[in-house]
Amino acid sequence: MRVLLTGAAGFIGSHIAEAVTAAGDEVIGLDNYLQAAHGAEPAQANPPSQATLSVHRVDVRDSAGVLSLLEGVDVVCHQAAMVGNGVDAADLPEYVTHNDFGTAVLLAAMHEVGVARLVLASSMVVYGEGAYTCAEHGLVEPADRIRTDLEVGNFEPRCPECSRALSWATVTEDARLSPRSIYAATKVAQEHLGRTWAIQTGGRVAALRYHNAYGPRMPRDTPYAGVAAIFRSSLERGEAPRVFEDGGQTRDFVHVSDIARANVAAIEGIAETVAEGDLRAYNVCSGQPTTLGVMAGILAGATGGQQPTITGEYRAADVRHVVASPDRARRELGFTAEIGPEDGIAEFAHAPLRGATA
Ligand code: UD1
Repeated sequence: MRVLLTGAAGFIGSHIAEAVTAAGDEVIGLDNYLQAAHGAEPAQANPPSQATLSVHRVDVRDSAGVLSLLEGVDVVCHQAAMVGNGVDAADLPEYVTHNDFGTAVLLAAMHEVGVARLVLASSMVVYGEGAYTCAEHGLVEPADRIRTDLEVGNFEPRCPECSRALSWATVTEDARLSPRSIYAATKVAQEHLGRTWAIQTGGRVAALRYHNAYGPRMPRDTPYAGVAAIFRSSLERGEAPRVFEDGGQTRDFVHVSDIARANVAAIEGIAETVAEGDLRAYNVCSGQPTTLGVMAGILAGATGGQQPTITGEYRAADVRHVVASPDRARRELGFTAEIGPEDGIAEFAHAPLRGATA
């Protein structure tokens, strides 16, 4: 199979390039070496991948450039994106142009040359808050957390009916989409664009909703980095990881090599698993949720660095618990993560990071 891989020089893309190549498929790599991810001198600073892969320096918004790489392609695997939470509303146009306009150009080009299969990098951020149950009212959508609660250390979301603190449940792919950041809104829009393209053209889209990715070659601490890179960078500076809230917030940390395996499964299985004219979403997670406090403790222990500080700080846009159900990906893609957080995060403590400076 010939696969056009966008974002091939990135953290996740470079691991996918290796896994797809190892599975015996051909990879055509595309990347625009976005400065926020790659720094000012990308070619020297960031070898794209350990696989022998030449990455074409093309922006996914450049229709002619994309078209020139689509010949003979069976599946497009679209990883190129601006990631992270961004800094403030000034970031809006950049996120939208790279993530949504870029996807629109790519989909139009695929239509033009008749490429009908897309594996799309989506994210658990499309859900906003995860799923919750109330002891009295069962499965509910939590009320937004309020400042007066957060300030006194009441971090658990409350039931919209009775204001009781809720317990988390696993979130399935059918959950309502409720983006809470610019990035999240652009990921939801990508899914919607993918679905409408599939309906119009008879194409197929597998949207892989990655949970919290980590692993070798993750970019260092930038305003766009996830918490795993931030904690690693603190420990490297000899500082304690600063864990916000009470450290009890829950995430699913999924190793980048498992994300790459999920992409191989989706690329190879899309014609069987996704119906013509449809977009099918899949959680890509380890299935082993961890609290931030525990994760920071494993990382600090493995580096021999300072134990985490629980700061009690909070960020307005943060969600409390997002715990995924891995069932659909297991059933339909045959994907189960191989690396759990205990081993994976301990390994990550010594893994090479990329030295991007935004
Ligand atoms: C993260 C990513 C998101 C990605 C998603 C799934 C970022 C900024 N967020 O979302 O883009 O799609 O995973 O892979 O890349 N925290 C601390 N200390 C810190 C920073 C954060 O305790 O220094 C806490 C936060 O309060 C939060 C948790 O860590 O509770 C996770 O934060 P973060 O990684 O930024 O965002 P996610 O919402 O999990």
